[in-house]
Amino acid sequence: MTQTLQNKRLLLGITGGIAAYKSPDIVRRLRDAGAEVRVIMTRGATEFITPLTLQAVSANRVHTDLLDVDAEAAMGHIELARWADAIIVAPATADALSRFAQGRADDLLTTLLRASDAPVLVAPAMNQAMWRDPATQDNSKILLQRGYQFVGPAEGAQACGDIGAGRMSEPLAIVDAATALFEQQLLTGQHVVITAGPTRERIDPVRYLSNFSSGKMGFALAEAAVEAGAKVTLIAGPVSLPTPDRVERIDVISATDMLAAAELSAASASVFIAAAAVADFRPRAAAEQKIKKTSDIETMRIDLVKNPDILRSIAESKRSLYCVGFAAETENLLAHARAKLAQKSLNMIVMNDVSRSDIGFAADDNEVVVITSEHAIHLEKTKKRHLARRLIQLISEQVGPGNRA
Ligand code: C5P
Repeated sequence: MTQTLQNKRLLLGITGGIAAYKSPDIVRRLRDAGAEVRVIMTRGATEFITPLTLQAVSANRVHTDLLDVDAEAAMGHIELARWADAIIVAPATADALSRFAQGRADDLLTTLLRASDAPVLVAPAMNQAMWRDPATQDNSKILLQRGYQFVGPAEGAQACGDIGAGRMSEPLAIVDAATALFEQQLLTGQHVVITAGPTRERIDPVRYLSNFSSGKMGFALAEAAVEAGAKVTLIAGPVSLPTPDRVERIDVISATDMLAAAELSAASASVFIAAAAVADFRPRAAAEQKIKKTSDIETMRIDLVKNPDILRSIAESKRSLYCVGFAAETENLLAHARAKLAQKSLNMIVMNDVSRSDIGFAADDNEVVVITSEHAIHLEKTKKRHLARRLIQLISEQVGPGNRA
């Protein structure tokens, strides 16, 4: 199934109607689409279905009370409100719509609706006469005006024996409506793998060869890709940077480790971005004991062998992958970058001028030229985080929806 909701954090509010028996199925399908789901039940909902069922299907503790000391200590209601990327209320009873429209805040669900800025999707479910009732219709209009989105109600046979509009929409229709809340995101459904930072190549137990890469560009790209809706795996060499929220991080040391992690992750990826500064060579064999400095030796040689070219190897083995490389050049910039694009079978190359000290490597800023087979786009000097967003935007323009993971 396409992971249309990958990385999304969804709160599902369940209110007290018979359609609540379908809510566990909604949770299951939201999770199948990649979302993390937390469930809030009103007291009425717990008369129809047990919190234990929802806990089992959501794999998270169910929240029922506003004034529960234990629950507040674990994840307070304001924290929960901030956590949510969207709130879905399914089923939403006539009473729930009325309470939402009034702006009540006297139970956990209504309080969260007040405290959260996240989009809200409601799936009304009630008897057809209750749905047609002018007060219910007025409440729905008020909520629509406030930006709430509605899915259903659907028409058909009802639990009470009536026929008409009032049934809760089917779980799949609710999941589709939830997906539509995020549809504007550029990389929804994509799995982006990014390498970042330097590699370390062991000389002996206490020494290594490495470079000055800080990993900042790769980490900024990981953050921007998550913001754009992608699932992100960040393969990081030794750096001292915190893992961006919602990013799966794999720590590696050497180029050989990085290649192994990249091969594993790339199998399910649709985009591969090699921002790592991989050491080109490694000692032929790391000494088992610390190499001694003896008084009669003035020079020493370390025999080096070439490291694998991670990007080239991934790009050549998986042609359907959109591959992006970085080129750090000091002269003949464009010509070298274009040659690298072809040699490594890349779709895009991002060129840095590393002869300048104000950009690139350990700096916070960068200025690059983005080169594909069709164009060369100059991105002016700016913070790596801003630049990362622009790069992700350019990549998303190239990666069509048909290429989804
Ligand atoms: O060949 P060069 O080091 O200039 O290529 C730079 C690009 O190739 C970068 O995207 C870098 O992450 C990637 N690369 C790699 N494995 C190597 C060397 C470079 O993935 N061994």
